Amino acid sequence: MIIAVDGPTASGKGTIAKALAAHFGLPHLDTGLLYRAVGRQCALSGGNADDPSDALAACSFPDSLLADPELRSEVSGGFASQVSIHPGVRKALFERQRAFALQPGGAVLDGRDIGTVIAPEAEVKLFVVASVPARAERRFAEMQQQGRSVSLAEVSADLERRDARDRSRAQAPLVAAPDAILLDTSDLGREAAIARAIALAEARL
Ligand code: C5P
Repeated sequence: MIIAVDGPTASGKGTIAKALAAHFGLPHLDTGLLYRAVGRQCALSGGNADDPSDALAACSFPDSLLADPELRSEVSGGFASQVSIHPGVRKALFERQRAFALQPGGAVLDGRDIGTVIAPEAEVKLFVVASVPARAERRFAEMQQQGRSVSLAEVSADLERRDARDRSRAQAPLVAAPDAILLDTSDLGREAAIARAIALAEARL
């Protein structure tokens, strides 16, 4: 059983994917982390994330980088979005994600193109969305907890910039698979969103 959870940044897809994995007893892969690792590796080695060959060279990052808390930062998110545009980078990360999806017993993967490119055969596909104000407020609250000083307007502008880049890129743009179920979490709290996702997944199995 493969469960694909796609959606824009701060939509709640990561939380939902983790909860689905725990509920169904499946392994979970946050594929955004792979792109974040490529972006960070590129920066660490002095490369330019907009340059396809610098970004491709960064795909051979050490596995230990995946445990680096810095990957969760907004800066790393921005780099991830830049390197993810390059077809060579997407190709280099494809096999790793595909192998994870195909492990015996199944898996839950979250990202942008799981239901469309990585595992189009997934039994359950959720496309998680939320309004820009709802997502900006969540991200803003998270950042305040981490003691980062940013304004809500900056967080919102950054989200919109990242959305636009993810939606408009030529390869594997952020788009719902035709057979995905739309889950709008704008007005749902964490527990309600999780309960709704579990109910939707159970109805598909
Ligand atoms: O989900 P997260 O915010 O960690 O993803 C960071 C960036 O990585 C996204 O903005 C997107 O550009 C890219 N990404 C992608 N395909 C995925 C997962 C993430 O292009 N499957």
